[in-house]
Amino acid sequence: MFKLGVCKSEDLGHTTTLLGKQRQISCSLLKTESPASAADITRFERVIRSTAISSGVSRTTYWSRFDDLDAVTQCVLQRTFSADQCLDIHDMGASDAFLSMQWAERVFAAFPLARMTASDISLYFTEAVWVSSGETYILEPDGTPIQYTKAPFVVWLARREHPAYLLNALVRRWAGWRLRKLRLCSEPVSWRGVPDSTVINRGGWRFRQIPLVHPAVLSFACNERFRVVQANAFCPLPSQCDVIRAMNLYQTGVFTAARVQQGIRAALDSIVKGGIFIAGKTMEMERARNDVSIFQKTQGRIRVVERLGKGFELEQLVLGMSA
Ligand SMILES: C[S@@+](CC[C@H](N)C(=O)[O-])C[C@H]1O[C@@H](n2cnc3c(N)ncnc32)[C@H](O)[C@@H]1O
Repeated sequence: MFKLGVCKSEDLGHTTTLLGKQRQISCSLLKTESPASAADITRFERVIRSTAISSGVSRTTYWSRFDDLDAVTQCVLQRTFSADQCLDIHDMGASDAFLSMQWAERVFAAFPLARMTASDISLYFTEAVWVSSGETYILEPDGTPIQYTKAPFVVWLARREHPAYLLNALVRRWAGWRLRKLRLCSEPVSWRGVPDSTVINRGGWRFRQIPLVHPAVLSFACNERFRVVQANAFCPLPSQCDVIRAMNLYQTGVFTAARVQQGIRAALDSIVKGGIFIAGKTMEMERARNDVSIFQKTQGRIRVVERLGKGFELEQLVLGMSA
């Protein structure tokens, strides 16, 4: 058996096989023109939903996912802080940061001096095309190859194909062999920032950056009160902030319990006394219900100040931690 990939935008309407299995979508479809057209934006939003990074964490995010959460959060912020406070707010694991931007617009209306930072472990992929054959590798910023495309196949390199898809498994092995033979990762490619539209031609390869930040956010980020940065949500931030949100990030289904604990500890350490921590998960199979707990770090302890849906699945773990 084999599974064809989705290499062209025209095929985005058919992303499942006849047996209902997901076809792999080429990350090259995340590329947009500058400025991005409406069609570019629609395609970007479609593809980011199915994109993942090598750790297995998906980049899934989508418009209006947090409408209910943003409303509840706003009430908490307004009863916790005064409107003239220079609030420092951080949205971790923000993916394309579109929801951070939506949140910022709402917060800025009530807190005119507030600032917001959206962060993620990776803000771009690098596309490497072997010019003579069109074979394409998608690399993470540290050079880790995660996807290979040789139309009509698109294979994920960071995890094995199901053995039933024998041909895909063979393409994946071929991709690994070609990678070594063509010496793709021998020299890292560096960019000046995100976005960077430079095209780098080197040793038969053509490299382009694929920003993972939503095109609308790239324009909004010119706003001096809103920025998007690279940051690891498992390490404390360089300075403490008043509010941290970590949605669909600290999950035991993805990370070990010890790693999740380390991440939450780092987030709590990055919040000032009296500050707010928002954590939870969107239950996609349950009508996209947001199960969220909003915590406050008070004198020596952490308490829940608001709950949405069934609350954060790791609420007890957070409450058991010292403030
Ligand atoms: C499922 S998305 C959630 C996006 C958004 N918060 C939402 O809920 O719609 C999870 C995000 O966490 C990011 N991520 C994974 N590991 C991370 C880490 N160590 N530090 C920061 N972000 C990380 C992924 O890149 C991905 O964009």
